[in-house]
Amino acid sequence: MWKGRFSQPTADLLLRYGESISYDWRLYRHDIAGSIAHARAQVKAGLLTEAEFDAIESGLKGILADIEAGEFPWSQELEDVHMNIESELTRRIGAPGAKLHTARSRNDQVATDTRLYCRDAITQIVSKIRGMQKALLRKASQYANDMIPGYTHLQRAQPVTLGHHLLAYMEMFDRDISRLRQCRDRLNISPLGSGAIAGSTICLDRKQIADELGFRDISQNSMDAIADRDYIMEMLFDLALVGTHLSRLSEDMILWCTSEFGFATLDDAHTTGSSLMPQKKNPDICELTRGKTGRLYGNLTAVMVAVKGLPMTYNRDLQEDKEPLFDSIDTIELALDINAEMLDGLVLNRERAMEAVADPLLLATDLADYLVRQGIPFRQAHECVGKAVALSVATSTPLNQLTDEQFASISPAFGPDAREVFHLDRAFAMRTNPGAPNPDNTARRLAYWSQILEHAED
Ligand code: ARG
Repeated sequence: MWKGRFSQPTADLLLRYGESISYDWRLYRHDIAGSIAHARAQVKAGLLTEAEFDAIESGLKGILADIEAGEFPWSQELEDVHMNIESELTRRIGAPGAKLHTARSRNDQVATDTRLYCRDAITQIVSKIRGMQKALLRKASQYANDMIPGYTHLQRAQPVTLGHHLLAYMEMFDRDISRLRQCRDRLNISPLGSGAIAGSTICLDRKQIADELGFRDISQNSMDAIADRDYIMEMLFDLALVGTHLSRLSEDMILWCTSEFGFATLDDAHTTGSSLMPQKKNPDICELTRGKTGRLYGNLTAVMVAVKGLPMTYNRDLQEDKEPLFDSIDTIELALDINAEMLDGLVLNRERAMEAVADPLLLATDLADYLVRQGIPFRQAHECVGKAVALSVATSTPLNQLTDEQFASISPAFGPDAREVFHLDRAFAMRTNPGAPNPDNTARRLAYWSQILEHAED
């Protein structure tokens, strides 16, 4: 492609070192779409005849079909997807193929292809996040009002319901979707026409090309357009955050499935055994998800570090953006699919959960609220209940079984009705404010999410 100025062939090691075709072949569909749009604009500019355009278009479509059939002769010598396709086109159709690269550089070409690729990938990932949300909705509906202990510092804190707990993840994934859509909207700008760095003396209709490719606008600074990889880092961050959410859910499930917690089990199809210990049933999907989240962070870091020291504009370092990008896309897509499937097989062990949640200490805060209702300032109420808890621990008496006298010795504000706070149903019923795990709130949120997911668009 650059033989004019060179008298030696490229070194074999450089071919191996510099090739990207082994992974950027994935851009073929978008590369071909970009080339067809570019060629159409060349017709408008009088650079190609209709007949030449037809030859280019049908040549590229033939190449597309061959690639999809797995019959395209990719060559490492041709370095990347752009040169592979262009040189094969010229081989097939002759002269018009050699005109295609007018007013274009691989620099604006790769930026265009990658943006188009990310745009499609986000649409696909959003629909997979929706799939995960649907699984959460099914499970949260099944166990809407089943109580489990809620934890802070991994210490039992207050009772919640499994429905409420799972719906927390629904909110996280919804923010992920909104972030990804915003990212898709921001990246949906056409860099084509920026050339290698400074545009071209041959002016094609950039807006026409952008419209054909479904971009919402064209870039306004050729140097920025060539150098910019913000959208890749942004997308990698968004995917890393999806991974974080999956990873935290994984950790919850790992804990729930231990014999120590014993709140839940996963089905056999989504767990593994041990080759040595016959009793084992391991939550490998959860652990792999937690582990793969490290890769997602690594991919983000790899691109950020590759970009941070680059002078304007294109530097070959930028070729290093694609493997992390593709890896994060593949990783998150599979993670979403498998986690949704696994969640369907999660079964709550109601007895164990109820046993744990029946611990009256989980309602110590409700007891302090009781004192507040008797006119005691909260800080004082907290101290009184703290004393009651200490007494309960010291005398090995459950908090709700301290005698009237014991309560009265701590504060006269404890009336005989104080123990009513220990009724779990009442404790949930009283938390009427939006956002709290009250059965009516949960029902409302379930209805809300089922409405959203039924009409979900990508
Ligand atoms: N394969 C290259 C990349 O991914 C395409 C752009 C090459 N541009 C260049 N000036 N060598 O970045």
